[in-house]
Amino acid sequence: MPGAVSIREVGPRDGLQNEDPVPTDGKVRLLELLGGTGVRRIEAVSFVHPRAIPQMADADQVWARAARAARVRYSALVPNSKGARRALAAGFTEIEVVVSASDTHNRRNVNRSTAESLDDIAGLIALLHEAGASAEVIVATSFGCPYEGDVDPARVAGIVDRVVADGADRVAFGDTTGMATPRRVRELVTAVRNRQPDIPVLLHFHNTRGTALANLLTALELGVTEYDASVGGLGGCPYAPGASGNVATEEVVHMLHDMGIETGVDLDALLEVAAYAEQLVGRELPSGVLRAGPRSRLAAA
Ligand code: COA
Ligand code: ZN
Repeated sequence: MPGAVSIREVGPRDGLQNEDPVPTDGKVRLLELLGGTGVRRIEAVSFVHPRAIPQMADADQVWARAARAARVRYSALVPNSKGARRALAAGFTEIEVVVSASDTHNRRNVNRSTAESLDDIAGLIALLHEAGASAEVIVATSFGCPYEGDVDPARVAGIVDRVVADGADRVAFGDTTGMATPRRVRELVTAVRNRQPDIPVLLHFHNTRGTALANLLTALELGVTEYDASVGGLGGCPYAPGASGNVATEEVVHMLHDMGIETGVDLDALLEVAAYAEQLVGRELPSGVLRAGPRSRLAAA
């Protein structure tokens, strides 16, 4: 088991984009509060078409107004080169570009085939590197697609081969549908490692089918040390009303700390932010039991 794990908090972007729109002030406050929890990485905003994702239409204002914590690495997500130029202009130096492993999801998400996105991404990586920024490629629908169902790990590994050849600094795998299980995690991570042993890998789990922490444990056993998580589990599942999407950061931190795995996050501070997030989106989030119930002493440490 790794002794430490790096969590990227994605509530302000992936979380809020899947909730009813909240005011700019609330987004700024959420970012600032998260900066004080000890989390080391935050995905702050995305630069996408405001018609595609109205929740991120004020990304520039949010980023310009939020006070930043000195020890936090902030990143932005983009869907294409135009988004990458906007992110650079806003001052980001860590940028993630998303592409879906399944063609149907990629078309619905960014209006082009996976192959067309990969061609754009080759130029985008060069653009980011010229500007001194790093490029992470997030492969969405890596464990299953809402339209096509199962996704072949060999297809995902092929996408990784391509983006690594084009200069990607890191890759991430998104469980967009919550279809991942420990078996799928093992197969995908192994397939990628066999072909690209040196590329850093991050995993993004959803808890839609209740498997997020089981998947995380499997990935830990495989030595993966980077994970996305969303405060309060912000970000419901757009494919099934009432279902959960992103795994909650506090549940991840609680489990890791009790296992003696360090994250840098202060769980009590994080639970206060989850309470704020609950107010912000006006619905109950899953961390109530961690706030109210008995707590592992190790987890609080
Ligand atoms: N931000 C803002 N505007 C953008 C943009 C971006 N990243 N990319 C393109 N545009 C603008 C273009 O400038 C153009 O504007 P114009 O009509 O004023 O000339 C217009 O959008 C159409 O450009 P085009 O390249 O044809 O885009 P599209 O209509 O095919 O839309 C995306 C493609 C990627 C911009 C859009 O589907 C999108 O933003 N998707 C994001 C989805 C997302 O964030 N999903 C969740 C994260 S996984
Ligand atoms: Zn997500």
